[in-house]
Amino acid sequence: MRILFIGDIFGSAGRKIVRDHVPHLLDTHKVDLLIANAENAAGGFGLTPAIAEELLDLGCDVLTTGNHIWDKKEIIDYFNSANGNSNSRARRVLRPANFAPTVPGIGVFEGTTKTGQNYAVINLQGRIFMQSIDDPFRKADELLQQINSKVIVVDMHAEATSEKIAMGWYLDGRVTAVLGTHTHVPTADTRVLPKGTAYQTDVGMTGPYDSVIGVQKEQILQRFLTGLPNRFEAAKDDPRFCAALIECDPVTGLANSIQRIMLGE
Ligand SMILES: [Fe+2]
Repeated sequence: MRILFIGDIFGSAGRKIVRDHVPHLLDTHKVDLLIANAENAAGGFGLTPAIAEELLDLGCDVLTTGNHIWDKKEIIDYFNSANGNSNSRARRVLRPANFAPTVPGIGVFEGTTKTGQNYAVINLQGRIFMQSIDDPFRKADELLQQINSKVIVVDMHAEATSEKIAMGWYLDGRVTAVLGTHTHVPTADTRVLPKGTAYQTDVGMTGPYDSVIGVQKEQILQRFLTGLPNRFEAAKDDPRFCAALIECDPVTGLANSIQRIMLGE
């Protein structure tokens, strides 16, 4: 079974390069399951229902997110529209599972691919240098007790490399892959851990690399140089597509390989 996981899609440049590359990648690599982190797909801040639908139409099976998921308020009604119904398309859009249970949305999805393989996707968020929310490690344990699928992909949306690596070791042998998002810089540490979990600290941004992690570099520089508040806008140039391709055994759910992908225009 082959899984393609697209790193943080950022703004219109990110969405365009996703449209350019997804069709041929699905075909060439015979991808069974397509997952993308889309927390910044809307202008670099949040996700709108229309953009979520566009990404699902392109073939994404599940969209994961992170700390920016609440930036576009419309997403709350979208989450509520699913009302827990797994047949609703909105149910395929996740928010980190370790937010308070009363928060709109759900952080795990279980489904079946077009080829008949069961799978689950878990979205977690780290706590180091981020908002203090519930413990992602204990939340992962709790969710793994409820999940029936063998193939399980975890998006660990976190700032600190140590927290992401720790999660990789914690879940080794219990899930198919632990993939990091949020920091937007792809890391060269793709590997299959000893007990069979594919791991990468950060899959990398799918968006404009002529930027500071997606935002126009002049605006970020002004903030660093003066400390004054200013507007941040999504950059446009040098778009790149970053993803991880995982091959796993659908019976055991364990990974055989993980490969980094970075494509330009
Ligand atoms: Fe984030």
